[in-house]
Amino acid sequence: GKGGHRHYMLKEIYEQPAVIGDSLRTYLDPGRGTIEMKEMPFDPKALTRMMIVACGTSAYAGMVAKYWVEQLARLPVDVDIASEFRYRDTPLIPGEVAVFISQSGETADTLAAMRHAKAAGLITIAVVNVPESSMAREADLVLRTKAGPEIGVASTKAFTCQLVTLACLAIGLGRARGTIDAARDQKLTQAIAEVPSRVADVLNNDDRMRSIAESLVHVTGVLYVGRGTAFPIALEGALKFKEISYIHAEAYAAGELKHGPIALIDDGLPVVALAPSGPLFEKTASNIEEIVARRGRVILITDEAGAGRLADLVAEVVVLPTVDPVVAPLLYALPVQLLAYHTAVLKGTDVDQPRNLAKSVTVE
Ligand code: M6R
Repeated sequence: GKGGHRHYMLKEIYEQPAVIGDSLRTYLDPGRGTIEMKEMPFDPKALTRMMIVACGTSAYAGMVAKYWVEQLARLPVDVDIASEFRYRDTPLIPGEVAVFISQSGETADTLAAMRHAKAAGLITIAVVNVPESSMAREADLVLRTKAGPEIGVASTKAFTCQLVTLACLAIGLGRARGTIDAARDQKLTQAIAEVPSRVADVLNNDDRMRSIAESLVHVTGVLYVGRGTAFPIALEGALKFKEISYIHAEAYAAGELKHGPIALIDDGLPVVALAPSGPLFEKTASNIEEIVARRGRVILITDEAGAGRLADLVAEVVVLPTVDPVVAPLLYALPVQLLAYHTAVLKGTDVDQPRNLAKSVTVE
C-alpha cells in the first residue's frame, strides 16, 4: 500500500533516506569506512573514456555521474540518450566501458543500446533496480540499486539510489586509478555515509515546498537553473514538474542564460535556482542577480551560507544542510521532487499515473 501517504510518489519520496542507505551499504563497508566496488571486469587504469547511456530521469543520473567520474577518476565521459546512441553510428572501440542506467532494466531503447554496445565488443555495466530484468541478466557487471519497487510513474527514489551508486563507482574508479588521495577518499566516504541522514533532514522542508507550490499552480511555465551537478538536477526538476503537473518547465545551465533564455525573464516566469555552496556558488549568484534585476521571481534552493548571501534578493529561500559539494546533488534532488508533487496535487492531476505515460517504456 501507500503506507499512509496519499500517493505512491509521496511514499517513495519519503523512503529515500532508507533506500539510499540500503543502496549505499552494498558498497560502503562501515567497519572499514571505505567504499569497495566489486571486482571490475576491466583494468580501470587502462580506460581512456567511459560512455553512459540511459533515458529520462536515468539519463540525468548519468549526467551527474559524468561530473563525478571526470572530477574524481579523471576519465572523460560521454553521456548519451539511448535512442540517440543506438542509431547514431558512433565509433565503438572494443574493450571500452559503457554504463547503462535503468530503474526497470527493460526500457526498450536502453536495452537495445546495451545489446548494440555488447555486440561491438564493449564491456557493459548495468545500474538497475529490478534484479530479474533483461538488463540485469545481460550486462557484464551489474550494480544494483536497492530502491525497492517504484510504483509512481515519476521516478524519485530510483533516481537518488542511482546517484549514490554512481558516486560509489566514481570514488571506486578514482581510487583504482590513483586520482584521489587517501585524505580526499576518506572525506568523501564520510560525506557519502552521512547522505541518508542529511536527506532525512531535507524532508523537513516538505511544508515549505507545499506553500511555494501554491504560487506555481497557475503559472504557464517554470525555469530551473543550476551549474555543475546542480545543472542535471535542474533538468530532472523540470522533467518531474512537467511530467506530473502538466505545466511547461525547462532547465538551463545558469551560464547559458545570457545566450538566450534570459529574454524570457519577467515577473511571470518563476525561476527555481539550485545553488549549493562550493566553487561555483558565486557564478550562480551573479546569474541570480541578473534574473532579479529583470524582475524575475527566484525560488532559491541553497544552504545557510548561500541564504546569507542572497536571501534579501530572492522571493523564496529554501535552506538545505551544508554538505560536501560532491554529494550536494543527492540532497537537491528532493526539494524539486516535492515542488512537482505538491503543484500536481494542488492542480488535481493523476500524480501516480500521469496522462500519456507508462512506468516502463518497453516500446520505442
Ligand atoms: O526504467 P528506466 O530508468 O529505464 O526509465 C527511464 C525513463 O523512462 C524514466 O526515468 C522516465 O523518464 C520517468 N517517468 C521520469 O520520472
